[in-house]
Amino acid sequence: MSSLGPDLDPAEKMGPDELRDLQLGRLRWTLRHAYENVPFYRRAFDAAGVRPEDCRSLEDLARFPMTTKDDLRADYPFGMFAVPRERIRRIHASSGTTGRPTVVGYTDRDLSTWADVVARSIRAAGGLPGHTVHIAYGYGLFTGGLGAHYGAERLGCTVVPVSSGVTARQVTLIRDLRPEIIMVTPSYMLALMDEMERQGLDPRATSLKIGIFGAEPWTERMREEIEERLAIDAVDIYGLSEVMGPGVSQECVETKDGLHIWEDHFYPEVVDPVTAEPLPQGRRGELLFTSLTKEGMPVVRYRTRDLTRLLPGTARPSFRRMERVTGRDDDMIVLRGVNVFPTQIEEVVLGTPGLSPHFQLLLTRRGRMDHMTVRVEARRGSSAERRAAAGDAVVAAVRSVVGVTVDCAVLDPETLERSAGKLRRVVDHRDAGD
Ligand code: DLL
Repeated sequence: MSSLGPDLDPAEKMGPDELRDLQLGRLRWTLRHAYENVPFYRRAFDAAGVRPEDCRSLEDLARFPMTTKDDLRADYPFGMFAVPRERIRRIHASSGTTGRPTVVGYTDRDLSTWADVVARSIRAAGGLPGHTVHIAYGYGLFTGGLGAHYGAERLGCTVVPVSSGVTARQVTLIRDLRPEIIMVTPSYMLALMDEMERQGLDPRATSLKIGIFGAEPWTERMREEIEERLAIDAVDIYGLSEVMGPGVSQECVETKDGLHIWEDHFYPEVVDPVTAEPLPQGRRGELLFTSLTKEGMPVVRYRTRDLTRLLPGTARPSFRRMERVTGRDDDMIVLRGVNVFPTQIEEVVLGTPGLSPHFQLLLTRRGRMDHMTVRVEARRGSSAERRAAAGDAVVAAVRSVVGVTVDCAVLDPETLERSAGKLRRVVDHRDAGD
């Protein structure tokens, strides 16, 4: 452990037994706090025949019921809060695409914990006090902007709170204020790089050294694309509003091998997405979190719907890692019986010469068959022959890697809509006919 830097948080340097003791104490507190203060948890625990004091070891957590997004929605807006409303200092809400948003609340202490874990995340990414951080995650009800903001301040960075959008101005600010770090969705980073080129600014020549990318799935190929074009280290940050926001887990720059979960605050499990049976370390399934210190809105065995697997710690040996999240179960497209994740297509597109990383998946129905068209922009300057060959290469690679037949339309550069926040890859016209 001597290789761990002196400036890490004490929890990052704990031995495994010490960490487990800390987790168990905090878990027992959380279960009691939830049971005593949130009617939903009292009902759920009672129905399952468990009481908080039945949790005598970390393994006992598996006896407790899980919580879903629908449970949170049913108690909209404040029913899941475990403290009186006046003690809630801030509200965020998740970007519900359908129906009610999910409202989450933080006490003063929760906000401080959140700033701590984001500060820890930025440091794990290679950030240092004194660095300037350009924050292009959206500010507002989304947790990305404000979550990154207070964490960067907590670390002692200079914060440029740009929020998302107004792409030309983002590039001006990067040029003039010379940040070392950028925090943004990977898809918006692509748009920013294109804008730099449009303004005649060489992306490799900016002041940026580190990019902390998250809020949506991205792939190893996308890391290569961004690192190469921008000459930076690109690392992954993960989180969700129901559990906290960004900073639940973070990839360390020295290993770039998946995200260390800040387990002194968030306890992970992986279960089979269909049967909900716990899976052993190393098996892929649905990620669950139990908060260990949250006062405002504790969550017990919250089903994230994110698919990943747990791995042993490396750069932070006592914290487990999660493999990068390459999809959620609700991102999965079932095409003629084959499961397809947009990230699989991303790998193919980015591995095909002549194609840009900007693509969209269009779903249509032909007769009774579902059909998918990969709509992808050519790289600037690629010839008609090159484009045709690239389209054929995508069709062939998707057939061999994913096992389905798709069409590929290679479009002119700058034809697809850009997104400043979370990108929607899939356009579903199956109900509209073909
Ligand atoms: O996206 C929090 C966040 C902000 C994380 C900024 C990282 C950076 P929500 O809007 O509640 O919160 O969405 C959470 O986004 O369940 C995942 O499906 C997805 N997600 C978040 N980070 C990653 C990532 C924020 N690094 C949902 N890789 C999560 C893949 C991610 N998916």
